[in-house]
Amino acid sequence: MNRILVCGPKSEWFCDKLGKKLELEPIFVEHKKFPDGETYIRIPEETTGKKVIIAQSTPYPQDKSIWELLLMIEAVTHHKPEKIILYTPYIAYSRQDKIFREGEPISIKLLLQTLSLAGATKLVTIDIHKPETLAYFRGPAINVIPVKTLSQKIREYTENPLILAPDKGALNRAKQFAKELESDHDYLEKQRDRITGEIQMKTKTIPVKNRDVVIVDDIIATGGTVAKAARMLYEQGAEKIIVAVSHALLAGNAIEKLGSADIKKIIAANTLPPKSSVEYIDVSSEIVDHLL
Ligand code: R5P
Repeated sequence: MNRILVCGPKSEWFCDKLGKKLELEPIFVEHKKFPDGETYIRIPEETTGKKVIIAQSTPYPQDKSIWELLLMIEAVTHHKPEKIILYTPYIAYSRQDKIFREGEPISIKLLLQTLSLAGATKLVTIDIHKPETLAYFRGPAINVIPVKTLSQKIREYTENPLILAPDKGALNRAKQFAKELESDHDYLEKQRDRITGEIQMKTKTIPVKNRDVVIVDDIIATGGTVAKAARMLYEQGAEKIIVAVSHALLAGNAIEKLGSADIKKIIAANTLPPKSSVEYIDVSSEIVDHLL
């Protein structure tokens, strides 16, 4: 077999499923923390001349996850692999994609350039915040929005749903879901204060009376966006609101916030470590062809 699947510490909840789809036995890396806090990684398998697929997401603690990924790439390069393909379903720092306030870095640019520099030759990811930022990676970079698998679940929980983007930037994603579900779509207008992070949702009349509504987004982080949107939609008569996202970060008290906004269901792709209250869908089938 000329291909090998190397699974990092931040892939343990999805790598077996990915291995099955790829028909490869996953090789889990050895890893530990040195007494001084530094990270140790070892790949317990020969990778010379092989097409190496490295699977590692970058959840909290993001900086450590990224460093583990870089160490894995570095370890593989020593064995002269044919290719190093990264499957990094969640790419941290993707929202710092421009200088919002003078003095800030473009974090995603540095991260993607560094992955190339370390030796990765191809990158496959799920629903990165701004697909155009993948141009910072010096090689083919594929972004997959798991519309098909998430839609299968949405069908189970809704009837003739209205698909809603929480802001105009997410409209394209809502359109794709609406097409798959043969449903209609709309968007809300949101503004975020760049200093406090506070969200303002402009009141907008949406035809939601007695409808099932699905809010689709790339990320739920603090839950603020979805909670604000849900309150407005229930006030306008929505029957049931569920959420379908690619990345359920759910930082801090996000789950409580969503519960108190009466979100009936949170559906998420399995890009991040599982948390209670979320129904995760394996998205391996959507990306597997890009890793062949
Ligand atoms: C922002 O543009 C993203 O697409 C999400 O809407 C945002 O990250 C959600 O953040 P939060 O859950 O903190 O409102």
